[in-house]
Amino acid sequence: MSRRSARFEPVGPLRGEYTPPADKSISHRAALFGAMADEPVTIRNYLDSADTRSTLDALLKLGAGVEEGGEGCMVVRGVGLHAPLEATGGLLDVGNSGTLLRLLPGWLAGQPGGVWTLDGDESIRRRPVDRVAEPLRAMGARVEVREDRFAPFTVHGAELRGIDYELPVASAQIKSCVLIAGMLAAGTTTITEPAPSRDHTERMLRRARVPFERNGSRMTVASVDELEFDEIVVPGDPSSAAFVIAAATLVGGSRVVLSNVGLNWTRTGFFRIAERMGAVILGDLEHPERDADSEPVGELDVASAPLEGTQVEPHEVALAIDELTLVALLGAFADGETVVRGAEELRFKESNRIAAVVTGLRAIGADIEETEDGFVVRGDGSPLPGGTIDSHGDHRLAMLGAVAGLASTGGVEVRDMDASAVSYPGFERDLRSLLGG
Ligand code: S3P
Repeated sequence: MSRRSARFEPVGPLRGEYTPPADKSISHRAALFGAMADEPVTIRNYLDSADTRSTLDALLKLGAGVEEGGEGCMVVRGVGLHAPLEATGGLLDVGNSGTLLRLLPGWLAGQPGGVWTLDGDESIRRRPVDRVAEPLRAMGARVEVREDRFAPFTVHGAELRGIDYELPVASAQIKSCVLIAGMLAAGTTTITEPAPSRDHTERMLRRARVPFERNGSRMTVASVDELEFDEIVVPGDPSSAAFVIAAATLVGGSRVVLSNVGLNWTRTGFFRIAERMGAVILGDLEHPERDADSEPVGELDVASAPLEGTQVEPHEVALAIDELTLVALLGAFADGETVVRGAEELRFKESNRIAAVVTGLRAIGADIEETEDGFVVRGDGSPLPGGTIDSHGDHRLAMLGAVAGLASTGGVEVRDMDASAVSYPGFERDLRSLLGG
């Protein structure tokens, strides 16, 4: 990908209507579950981005069929939960996708006699996979990882057995990997999570009529022969919408009405944190529905507002994991101190997001400090002057830089803006279309 820079100037309020692109997490899962099904599954509003393209490519290599019909509509022709062994032996390129790297091994581990190696780009090779290797080994698979921790990641499929597993961190990716392997394992697999994280896989299991139960923080999945699906409709991505919501909050005089936003409570933690800081976000943000088999969507109505600092506690972290860098940005424009704790997981994302957001925001004038498990940012309610931010190839930092530019007094230049295509190829166009209206 090129290292194109782009400038974002303070050109006035954001106004109008906006629909975010399709959800990245749910798109990955829809395609993967479609590939594991026996009957063709229609997916509507599949995200067209670099990451979700990596998932389709990997599934094609494994023998699934994908017929794309335009505008995100596609039919996935699955190979069934027990994939044919002629698809064995391949190298699967996950590109930049941590979700693909962590979820797909759950399926592959349950294919006795099969061997696959997953690898990806430079950023993927710095992201830990020991966290999924460990439970898969406990279930009976043989797994090889570089330096005990990193991709390339080779999975030798086996007859799996169910385990009782306590997640070491609140991670939806590890949870999903073990749940998927659990569908192929003898007996039942029980997982306990230390705090709630996104529950899209659980909803998809219920939807596919897999024997699955949740009791508080414990959940159990039992082995199943076949997945049953009708079509899967992917909602708009709240994590992508978060950039527009942050911009509309920070740029005075803004008002944006967002439609078709995924409002799954396990994904809307950032909106609740922003509201606590003073943001005006009207919509249904407060209803956890722990037994649902579908994804709620709705409208949000956002207007600019002055902000105050806040404390983000460890139990809130997983519910806002991909938006915590935006909490830092809001904190830099807020009056008072904003502290995020318990977020060491941010160091293992597409970049070390604690270091990258602290360096990036400092470079445009913020008073922000790195801590071991988060950051502390102080503001007096006035806008940042601006400057240059490097995305470090991380899509979410590129988009944060753009928002910072619109809200600054002097503009921000974002280095490597094209990184945003990992989750949101149309981001610049969509953002600029809300300006100057
Ligand atoms: C994801 C889960 C999160 C998130 C990532 C996508 C998923 O990671 O940061 O962007 O699709 O399950 P962890 O749950 O591993 O922290």
